[in-house]
Amino acid sequence: MSENQMVEMAAKVRLRAYAPYSGFKVGAAVLTRAGAIFTGCNVENASFGVTICAERAAVVAAIAAGQPELIAIAIVTDAPEPAMPCGACRQVLAEFNPLIKIIASTTQDERQEFVLTDLLPRANQGLPSKNV
Ligand code: THU
Repeated sequence: MSENQMVEMAAKVRLRAYAPYSGFKVGAAVLTRAGAIFTGCNVENASFGVTICAERAAVVAAIAAGQPELIAIAIVTDAPEPAMPCGACRQVLAEFNPLIKIIASTTQDERQEFVLTDLLPRANQGLPSKNV
């Protein structure tokens, strides 16, 4: 699965974002080890704090499909520069792969790539018992 395909799928699902409050539509596409891609968009709410980001929506879809091994995630917005995942989404991604590749792209196809540990060093990995 190519990065271009991931960005294309993120751009497509971005159009389904529900963002009447911010007007900022975000699409995300996460690649799993099995080679599948799961997508998500942001879903806002009148109670702003319960808004769901595109990245977390995509992760939830992958987990619900039984595919927790996340390899890469593409994020597409129409911001002038590639948009970075928010802190909450970084922490959620770290739960599944602290080394996940992040491809941030604009709708004009300007891209930046990161490894999650660059954006969230030393992420909290939960209780020690989780890794036993
Ligand atoms: N948003 C995302 O979906 N992902 C991000 O990485 C940053 C922000 C959404 C949340 C909200 O609906 C809108 O963008 C403005 O912050």
